[in-house]
Amino acid sequence: MEGKSIATLAVHAGSKSPPSITDAKVAPIYASSVWTFDSLNQLDEVWEGREPGFVYSRMANPTVQQLEQAVCQLEGGDGAAAYGSGTAAIAVALMAGLNPGDHVVAHQVLYGGIFALLRYEFAKLGITTSFVDCTDLNAVLGALKSNTKVVYLETICNPLMEVADIPEIAAIAHGRGARVLVDNTFASPVHCRPRELGADVVMHSATKYLCGHSDVTAGIIVGDSDFIKKAKAIGTALGPTLSPFDAWLVLRGIRTLAIRMERHSGNALALARYLASHPKVSAVHYPGLASSTTALQAQHVLSGGYGGMLSFTVTGGLAGARAVIDTLELAELAPSLAGTATTTTHPGKTSHRSIPRAEREEYGVGDGLVRVSVGIEDIHDIIADFTRALSRI
Ligand SMILES: Cc1ncc(COP(=O)(O)O)c(C=O)c1O
Repeated sequence: MEGKSIATLAVHAGSKSPPSITDAKVAPIYASSVWTFDSLNQLDEVWEGREPGFVYSRMANPTVQQLEQAVCQLEGGDGAAAYGSGTAAIAVALMAGLNPGDHVVAHQVLYGGIFALLRYEFAKLGITTSFVDCTDLNAVLGALKSNTKVVYLETICNPLMEVADIPEIAAIAHGRGARVLVDNTFASPVHCRPRELGADVVMHSATKYLCGHSDVTAGIIVGDSDFIKKAKAIGTALGPTLSPFDAWLVLRGIRTLAIRMERHSGNALALARYLASHPKVSAVHYPGLASSTTALQAQHVLSGGYGGMLSFTVTGGLAGARAVIDTLELAELAPSLAGTATTTTHPGKTSHRSIPRAEREEYGVGDGLVRVSVGIEDIHDIIADFTRALSRI
């Protein structure tokens, strides 16, 4: 660069990688969108996978790849593909598993965004979905058709925290030639590894527990090599790329996932027990309570805890829910989940807003339902906040 002008230096100085520093404790962030090549021939070799390397970050990026390798190991798969949101990852997984004319059987209670994706967007592609109670194996059997290619579940469903029997459903679905896709966002691989239970593909909104600090949107799919190859081709074609910075933050979050989940789950169980005994609370949805409608499935499918998410119905419908949400101080109203801080939301007005009211009420998502993402604060402070808020209704 000697003798070059300031304009040229500003573009090129310090732009090359440092000599390989293999003993750095934490891998660097590869923020490059593109790689350079000595020749067209070398580009060809890398592009075709005959030589190791990277071409363009929409196709693959070393930092994103590191995250993929980490989650692949946590969930037990042949490969993984990470994207810029959980929704993007799930959309890519559904596209990889479905063709026009195919049919999906999905649990009737799901994150509202995915419910809408299946009901409205995939319907436009000629892919239909039957939403049934997948906690009832007979309902699953009854909904399967000759063109059913996917059975879609959330390990712990949003927002009612129901748990379906993944091993039984996998046996039924596989017997009929369908794959089982499981969104493992709420359980995290700490409490469930769906592929070990027979699921084919696992998906995450990594925005949630994998990251754990409410500062990233990301998503990831784990599956067998053929499925991931298909997903990567779709991801490259559509471009829902994950930023390397965000991949790095999720990787950092994962380092504390196990201890965070232990605390989230312990706190959530304690808060669920407290709420279940409160006179202003008519129902508590938490898989770790013996009163849960799917307590048996939860014991079969989850281990080491039941996660940090719970929901409860307060007396007084929407007015009661509004009073509690607005009065809580420590637990702020925030329509996401799984950060270190306790937060609440109203599913009917946020995550499940796209589902017609009558329909969501039929599934059990009523106007008095409050969802809580239980954080890692001291449980006494969390319970004191809810005691105060509930005293106002
Ligand atoms: C269970 C579940 N899956 C998927 C998603 C979508 O994830 P993202 O917001 O990262 O697109 C959400 C969002 O809340 C969710 O709750």
